[in-house]
Amino acid sequence: MRVRRARPEDAAAIAPLIGVPGDLTTREVLVGKLLSEDRPGAHLWVAEDERGVVGFSRLSHVPALAPEDPRRVPEGWYLLGVHVTEAHRGRGLGTALTQARLDFARDHAEAGHVYLFRDRDNAASAALGAKFGHRLVQRDIVPMNGEEPERPLDLWSVPLPSWRLRDATRHDAPAIGQLIAGRSSRDPVAWAEKTRQALLRQDPPLHIFVAEAEGEVVGYTRVAWMRGHAPEDPRCVPEGWYLLGVNVREDYRRQGIGAALTRRRIAWLRERGATGWLRYFRDFDNHGSQALHAGFGFQVEAEDVWSPGLENPEKRLVLERVRL
Ligand SMILES: CC(C)(COP(=O)(O)OP(=O)(O)OC[C@H]1O[C@@H](n2cnc3c(N)ncnc32)[C@H](O)[C@@H]1OP(=O)(O)O)[C@@H](O)C(=O)NCCC(=O)NCCS
Repeated sequence: MRVRRARPEDAAAIAPLIGVPGDLTTREVLVGKLLSEDRPGAHLWVAEDERGVVGFSRLSHVPALAPEDPRRVPEGWYLLGVHVTEAHRGRGLGTALTQARLDFARDHAEAGHVYLFRDRDNAASAALGAKFGHRLVQRDIVPMNGEEPERPLDLWSVPLPSWRLRDATRHDAPAIGQLIAGRSSRDPVAWAEKTRQALLRQDPPLHIFVAEAEGEVVGYTRVAWMRGHAPEDPRCVPEGWYLLGVNVREDYRRQGIGAALTRRRIAWLRERGATGWLRYFRDFDNHGSQALHAGFGFQVEAEDVWSPGLENPEKRLVLERVRL
């Protein structure tokens, strides 16, 4: 099961899941509008298994509707609706559908928080909000349509981190070089040049992301296709997709940046239809990296591998993999 951005062709599958009045055709037209480019402030995600769509979620920007009315929802970004079919509940899809919306809002919304409103008695929604650190803003809110709700609605907000992720550009190369060098006694200028070259080359396929906070690069990472350099050597890592070089500045660690960079790389691969095994390798005793990747389902494939380009070919590396 996976979560991805919804596409216009998902409208018919999403329509039965959305909680708005009207027959299926009306709902499909509504979803189609949300997915089309004439509604730039609306973003939808779907969860799907091998048989099709089993859940959806939505993030929308709500404009100022009635600023003079203190009970009317204020302007801002809203988590509007997350739904998973009954048969697929209890497997973390609601969390993944919400995480995808928060990741997007953090990187694009330029807001310190996102809002949501919900029935006071919706225990499942309350538990999901608690997972993401929600805070109560106002009780008895009136939703966008301005109509008094049948059941009491409360307004909540979920804080967004102060950092964001974005694609790296060649201007980031010096900062990335510093980050890599800061971890060991490597030469920052040489690593900046290596990064610049990698960004220009793109062959084999490669993508670099950075985390930025207060205008500074505080994390970086790569995802790349690695060629089989020495297939005859059983210790050489095999050809395929790899997560490489995730690195977060020390004063920004344990704030979720490493995990966000990893989610982003996996999403990038899936958006491109990549399938098969996804791998990474680490030093034998890098328990932080192991814990980070275990959260994404990585498991040990081999315990004593070697990769071309490593400074110390004698180093003992552990290779781990997960299905894309
Ligand atoms: C590994 C690294 C990228 C993690 O970055 P981070 O931003 O601190 O990671 P996150 O905050 O997203 O952590 C996500 C989860 O990974 C695990 N984790 C991360 N760092 C950990 C550590 N030092 N010890 C144990 N678990 C750790 C935890 O389960 C954590 O969740 P939690 O904070 O809720 O417990 C960072 O420590 C780093 O840059 N290290 C040096 C470079 C490196 O070793 N890279 C890996 C090469 S294979």
